[in-house]
Formats: sequence, C-alpha cells, structure tokens
Amino acid sequence: MLSRPRRNRSSAAVRNLIRETELNAGHLVQPIFLMPEADARLPIASLPGTFRMGIDEVLREIEDCMQFGLLSYMMFPAVPEEHKDKTGTYATAAENFYLHAARAIKERFPEVCLISDVALDPYSTDGHDGVVIDGEIHNDETLKLLDAMSVAQAQAGFDVIGPSDMMDGRIGSIRRALDREGYTGTGIMAYTAKYASAFYGPFRDALDSAPRQLQDVPSDKKTYQMDPANAREALREAAHDAAEGADYLMVKPALNYLDIIYRLHEAHPLPIAAYHVSGECAMLLAAAERGWLDYEQAASEALLSIRRAGADVIISYFAKDYARWS
Ligand code: PBG
Repeated sequence: MLSRPRRNRSSAAVRNLIRETELNAGHLVQPIFLMPEADARLPIASLPGTFRMGIDEVLREIEDCMQFGLLSYMMFPAVPEEHKDKTGTYATAAENFYLHAARAIKERFPEVCLISDVALDPYSTDGHDGVVIDGEIHNDETLKLLDAMSVAQAQAGFDVIGPSDMMDGRIGSIRRALDREGYTGTGIMAYTAKYASAFYGPFRDALDSAPRQLQDVPSDKKTYQMDPANAREALREAAHDAAEGADYLMVKPALNYLDIIYRLHEAHPLPIAAYHVSGECAMLLAAAERGWLDYEQAASEALLSIRRAGADVIISYFAKDYARWS
C-alpha cells in the first residue's frame, strides 16, 4: 500500500492541519422569538431550551450570547390574536412591539446584525405568508404589504430584511421600496429555496402561526413554498433573487437539503445562508432527552455538515450552545 489515508488522521495535531471546514460563532445566527410583555419568558413545548421572550429578557439574552462571540440575531414576533387580521395591519403599526424592540436592541448593542422576518403569517388570522383573497394567496397584493413591512423594519433599525414569504418578485419589489425611502444600505437575506416542509412545526407552535383550518383558506403553503422533490427549481429561484438584488440566498430547511445548499453555492457567488429549522433541532433534542444521542456531539456535527455543504451563514436554535462549546 503506497497510499494510506489513515496517516493523515494519526493525531489531533495532524487532524487539525488538514481540517477542511471551520465553523465558529461568526458564521452563526441566533433566532429570537419576541413577545409583547417586556419581562415575559415562556417556554415552547416542542422546542425545549428556546423561549419566547419580552424585550427585557431579549436584551439580557443578547448580552449573554455576545460573550460567546455571537453577533447576529434573527427576530420573529409572537403576535397576540387580538392584533391579527387578514392583511396584517399590525406589521406596520406605530405601536408594534417588534419594531420597538429592534430599536431598543440597536440602541443598546449597535454592533449587532439584526435580521428581520418579512411575511404575513405572524400577523394574519389566516396563518398564511400572503394575503388570502377569494381562497387564493394573492401574489401581487401581498407585495405591497411586504414592501411596507420592510420599510417599517428598516426604519426601526433592522440591518437585514428577511423575506420568508416566497411570493414571486418580492426581492426586487422590496429592494426598490427600500431604495425609494433612502434605505440603500439595508440588506436583504432572500429565503430563496424555502420548501413546503414538515419541519416547521415547533416554529408554528411558538408563533401560533400555522395555516388556519377555515373554509376558503388553503390548509397548506404548497402554492408558494417549494416542492421537496425539486432541486433545479431552486436554481431558478436563485437566478431571480440574485438578479433582483438579494445580498444572501437562503436554503431552508438545511439538513434534508444539503444538495441544494451545495448547488447554490456552486452556482452563485452570493453568500449562501442555511436555516437549520425548528423541527430539525427538535428531533435531535428529543433523541438527546432520551439519551439516544449526545446533544453536543450530534448538534456540532449537524452544524458542521451544513457548513461543509457550502453554507456561509447558518441560522440555528443551537447557535448559542455551539458558540459556547467552541
Ligand atoms: C414563515 C416562517 C416559517 C419559518 C420561518 N418563517 C414557517 C412557515 O413557513 O410556516 C420556520 C422556521 C423554523 O421552523 O424554525 N414565514
């Protein structure tokens, strides 16, 4: 045997020399679920270890995360039912607690990168990312609402706007709206290849945002989120988002879609983000709770795999723990 691959695995020093993939806190984004009550801290049954928090708790949490080198946060609002309606009016309301919280966070920690969520579902009585008109998710009417939501978020201080809605043409529409209002420096992280996945369950529990079982309202998101069977379609979405001015292309979920991450990474010079979603984290946590997997080792391997596939940025509920371990 002339060539023996095991020589390059023979000690920790050698393994360090030849390690191809590095993952540190700088690549990670911590999702945060925000509630209106300032001092609230409510667990999410299907996602142990993650909480819905009020702004006071969030400020404490960010301070804590920053000790471990985490500088980027993606925020989602848990909107009380009484503020929801068909068009998500509250998304741009002056009293919106989510916008106020963004302002407070950026005031206290100007160095963090704060990423928003743009979609109607947290604000909608129908539980859809777009507006439902005559039983259909109306693309172009939704764009107007997304534009207004994005401008309000940029005004509140979000550094990067995160459209998670999968409407056609929304990246260009939002880019133009931001530029028109003078927010040329506000970035857009496009949810480019977002699949109609079964792995969003705990997130929808956290926000009570699942599509509602109502007459005249579609019961799933398959007319706008992508079919898990498709890969080439992701390239088509990526071409649109890149041409429309996206600053990042995202693949979501991550682990079942590593091939998509790889393909987008090969096809586009834009940074690739991957969203390691709630259900992916919940599965691992459930197995760890039973003693079937080691949480630290399994979570680290999952995150490293996503990075190895080609993700520059990883959004994960494990971000804080990983940053602490590394
Ligand atoms: C909806 C949105 C979803 C997630 C982020 N934004 C769920 C959905 O499309 O229903 C899921 C994230 C997760 O599961 O962690 N705009």
